[in-house]
Amino acid sequence: MYRRIVRPVLYRLGKGDAEIAHEQTLHGLRRLGRVPGAVSALSRSFGAIPAGAARTVFGIRFPGPVGLAAGMDKNGVALPAWRALGFGFVEVGTVTAQPQPGNEKPRLFRLVEHEAVINRMGFNNLGSAALAERLEAYGPLGYPLGVSIGKSKVTPLDKAVDDYVISLRRLYRYGDYFAVNVSSPNTPGLRSLQDAGQLRELLTALHAEAETLGKAGAAGQGDMARRAKPILVKIAPDLTPSAIDELLGVCTDVGVAGIIATNTTIGRPGVESHPLASEAGGLSGRPLTELAAKTVAHIHAETGGALPVIGVGGILDPDDAVRLLDAGASLVQVYSGLIYRGPGLIRRINRRLS
Ligand code: FNR
Repeated sequence: MYRRIVRPVLYRLGKGDAEIAHEQTLHGLRRLGRVPGAVSALSRSFGAIPAGAARTVFGIRFPGPVGLAAGMDKNGVALPAWRALGFGFVEVGTVTAQPQPGNEKPRLFRLVEHEAVINRMGFNNLGSAALAERLEAYGPLGYPLGVSIGKSKVTPLDKAVDDYVISLRRLYRYGDYFAVNVSSPNTPGLRSLQDAGQLRELLTALHAEAETLGKAGAAGQGDMARRAKPILVKIAPDLTPSAIDELLGVCTDVGVAGIIATNTTIGRPGVESHPLASEAGGLSGRPLTELAAKTVAHIHAETGGALPVIGVGGILDPDDAVRLLDAGASLVQVYSGLIYRGPGLIRRINRRLS
């Protein structure tokens, strides 16, 4: 039904502008989240997660292993609705210390024939202070929340650490885990933070800050209090195996809790001849399935499974989720699959994993 009826309507919104469709969907979910009856109706259709699918990863109990990937609900506007769609966790953000408009539009493109998306959003977001305010207003969500943090565009790279630390401090009490985004292709220079030296400096500072905030009891009441909350690193699928190994060495040294693999690719595997392939930005969806699975498998092999991995990239079918989990992921996330297959995909994955 989603593909035959809902999707064509969504794709026609804003005369086919993908970003307008995205905004209207979010807006709809946000409004729906304010109507208690609507959330429970949605939840009855989509929200069930079989008890057998729950798991504990880096000290957090996840009701289900399928999460909403970062970037879909950057400012956390529709948090009550996502759980009702069957997600076991949500990663909000990426947010930055400064609010920023992102790149010029158009900046989001659907390559429908390939079930792929190219985006160069550039961290358009209301800023970490606004997100903290919104999360404060929600109160407890009842499911795990990841918070993805990135660098403001106006902040020079050599001041990046402060930028990330500011956002961590503002959001610490609200997140269950924090994702350090050093892999978006759409902020100039950001991906160089994946290099061992810069990454060590950044992660050491964030880890120290998390420990300080944990000890100060800033985690909020009823939390796993007084222990540093998990910090994860989100990586690009375009790193060479040796660059990944170097990065993993740093992550292990610094005490990172896990890796999120992967972000979008700057490559154009299998879509080279599509008229939109030359648009700048990161590619996601079906063309990423293979690359994400390889990256997850590599991390799992290199760390002997010691570092938990959230697998993300090209999940459009339950089989794709199973593949990432078999490759060693402990949890998975979906973004493009939701655009192409709708919320029924999440329900099908949950059923398959029970
Ligand atoms: C993203 N992604 C992303 N990732 C991130 O860490 N922070 C972000 O702000 C965003 N923003 C964003 C916007 C758009 C429009 C897309 C399509 C993607 C990347 C996303 O979380 C995920 O890693 C990739 O899209 C790969 O997963 P899928 O889409 O193939 O399921």
